[in-house]
Amino acid sequence: MTTGGAGLSRRAFLGAGVAFGGMALLAPSRTGAARAPFDVSAFKPTQEVTLTAGEMELKLLGPEGPATPILAYDGTPFRTLRMPRGARLKAIFVNGIKEGSTLHFHGIRMPNEFDGVPTLTQPLVQPGGRFVHLLPLDDPGTFFFHPHCDETGQAGKGLAGVLIVEDSRDPTFDAEHVLCLKDWRLKEDGSYLPLSEPDGASKAGTFGATRTVNGAASVELKAPAGGHARLRILNIDSTRIMDIGVEGGEAWLIAVDGHALPPVRLDDLPDGIWRMGPAQRIDLDIRMPADGSPVTLGDYRAADIYHFATLTAAGKVGKPRKGPLALPKAELPKPALKQATRLSFTLQQATDQAVKDLALPPDDPLAKALIDSLCVGSTTYWGIQSESWPTGTRRNLPPPLARMEEGASYVVEIKNETRFPHPVHLHGHAFEVMSSSLGRLPRHFADTVLVQPGEAVETAFVAARGDWVFHCHILEHMETGMMGWFRVV
Ligand code: C2O
Ligand code: CU
Repeated sequence: MTTGGAGLSRRAFLGAGVAFGGMALLAPSRTGAARAPFDVSAFKPTQEVTLTAGEMELKLLGPEGPATPILAYDGTPFRTLRMPRGARLKAIFVNGIKEGSTLHFHGIRMPNEFDGVPTLTQPLVQPGGRFVHLLPLDDPGTFFFHPHCDETGQAGKGLAGVLIVEDSRDPTFDAEHVLCLKDWRLKEDGSYLPLSEPDGASKAGTFGATRTVNGAASVELKAPAGGHARLRILNIDSTRIMDIGVEGGEAWLIAVDGHALPPVRLDDLPDGIWRMGPAQRIDLDIRMPADGSPVTLGDYRAADIYHFATLTAAGKVGKPRKGPLALPKAELPKPALKQATRLSFTLQQATDQAVKDLALPPDDPLAKALIDSLCVGSTTYWGIQSESWPTGTRRNLPPPLARMEEGASYVVEIKNETRFPHPVHLHGHAFEVMSSSLGRLPRHFADTVLVQPGEAVETAFVAARGDWVFHCHILEHMETGMMGWFRVV
């Protein structure tokens, strides 16, 4: 990639008096950052896995329907890996698809160089290429992995997998199931509708009408009557926010984004649901009725409720346990709130005029280089404004949204001034969700937090070394501007 001396952002919104976060071409600013090198030789893998992205076919419109060409790792839709807590995983990504890709392990706290963000942490992996990730799996929980390039295209066609880090200290459940929720944008013949449309990208997102769980319209699961079922539910859709609710049994939220929290009865949450944006995961403990009646799970957000799973009784437990079955307390760096530096970021909608005035024309060769190297779209609809990192000149690299100190604590407020909710994700960290201005969230650790229109959510974390992106996980929003990065040295 050649950028000339200064580099240039297609998102040069700086003239408008606000600094919009965008990933920068880092070559010029990179040299000064003394990052303690991760000692590869000291990393002794205990597990090794090769993940090859490739095409396959799946009948998403039912067993009698046409097949859809999807993307998957190793020919398995939503390939699921299970690793023990403390594992040292060597994951070899092989790019078997026809365009550049990378592999990102969402939510895993890891050395920055294995984070999978093209340009920022590694080069794009070209078709036929490979990249080796070395991942310490210290945090137990439900995680996932996905590409970090052309995500609306690649993840939109199904490229994602599940990483479960098992903890031998967990209570014993009588059943366990993994549920991957994802919609597809399909025509009747099984081929794709455009995965993104301007009207969606600039608003709530472009929704798929074919709703699936584990690639099927719904699933029938088993658990013993009177027993406890652990459900790991992943929203791996590109766009859709879901209100997960349970009918017919008692349910507790026991983990969010993999991390344990003191169990919260689902019925005690506002509306009796947990609202979950793209990339968010929950673990539920569901106690099956003793009389053998079924339990159903649904997304209650739309008027048209989507019932995606039924748990039917199979057998019966000998000694019923009351519950909830709490997971061991999350062992994560605890932010020091008193000493913490406070920062605030505002999620904004770009005005049409700002887009017209300042976006590079898509046929501009520099715009093309940026789009190719950073895997972003050619249009800007969104931004992250930072009061604390204003301006620059139009031709400067957009600075990181914040420069932070390794090991220091930060309280980061995320304010949503747009009319749409945004699930905001920070790479490489688990942050503590401290409070919501709408008072709707229990305190918990997470890697992604949904911020409602008009809401301000306060998060806190201990900064880990590296260059970490911070973005909306509605993939179209991310690709049209709602992304920035933090530099931690
Ligand atoms: Cu799921 Cu930038 O990540
Ligand atoms: Cu968004």
